[in-house]
Amino acid sequence: TGLHSLFLSAGKLYFGTATETNNFADPTYQNILSNPLEFGQLTPENSQKWGLIQPQPGDFSFNASDQVASLANSYNHLLRCHTLTWHSQLPPFVSSTSWTPDTLRQLITTHITSVISHFGSACYAWDVVNEALNENGTFRNSVFFNVLGEEYIAHSFEVAREVAPPETKLYYNDFNLETAPEKQTAAVELVKSLQSKGVKIDGVGLQAHFTVGQTPSVESLIATLQRFADLGVDVAWTELDVAQEDVETASELAVEQQASDYVVAVRACLEVERCVGVTVWQFTDRYSWVPGTFPGKGGACLWTEDYQRKPAYWAVKRFL
Ligand code: XIL
Repeated sequence: TGLHSLFLSAGKLYFGTATETNNFADPTYQNILSNPLEFGQLTPENSQKWGLIQPQPGDFSFNASDQVASLANSYNHLLRCHTLTWHSQLPPFVSSTSWTPDTLRQLITTHITSVISHFGSACYAWDVVNEALNENGTFRNSVFFNVLGEEYIAHSFEVAREVAPPETKLYYNDFNLETAPEKQTAAVELVKSLQSKGVKIDGVGLQAHFTVGQTPSVESLIATLQRFADLGVDVAWTELDVAQEDVETASELAVEQQASDYVVAVRACLEVERCVGVTVWQFTDRYSWVPGTFPGKGGACLWTEDYQRKPAYWAVKRFL
């Protein structure tokens, strides 16, 4: 057995991981990634982001993300597609043009239409809008918000709905929804506001980037997932990792704490019916984004840099 096969037995859809083409030449990595017992879903870690997929106006570059999609297809893994309207990793032509509401709305329409149609039914789900909120519950400043106000969110979902195959799940995705109460409430209000306008949203993705020892309790995580599920949408942990605060000095105790933090996250998903699955944001420390983004932090994944399964892996497996 493995994590994905145990997730299936627990009635869930998938256990998955982020991956990227720069990991593809590593045979040990591929060996684990392709194991249908361990993984049943992939998310391209970067290659579908705007700056990589449409770096110049009208110039779409699908090569890398096509490779991730075809790998998912050949392994029979679901593909969560990530992401369409996001303030980060934008190409300069998007962030530095002075748009009018009309021209920016049109730009979003063209981008979403082109990208979603390219992948068609290959995407089980799309993170249509990513990280639109601040921790205090206000809308994040971005070129999209500054020019269009919150309307850009509904617009993105409407365009996505029009062009995506009907079975594609359309998600709002964000981080710290698990830990920042005002942000969580704002996300709930956002979903309700879309629904009240007749804009269909299928899911809320909670990134679940946690820190060892600061992961919320299982009760709290269940309540968070359930709060969104009660709106009539699917929920998922979309980018789970649990970083050591100071990877150099992480003690044996911290390693055990990480194991119990991973179990808490997995258990919360199992206990909420509308939680469809869990995606880890890379499965090995070798390719984790954490050390590069948060200096000092690290060791966030289930496998070590040299592909040993950690206590967190075994704890999750035992729990399942
Ligand atoms: C990260 C990638 O892992 C890094 O490789 C990249 O440099 C920056 O983006 N929230 C998201 C993801 O939605 O797309 C981010 O991925 C991590 C935070």
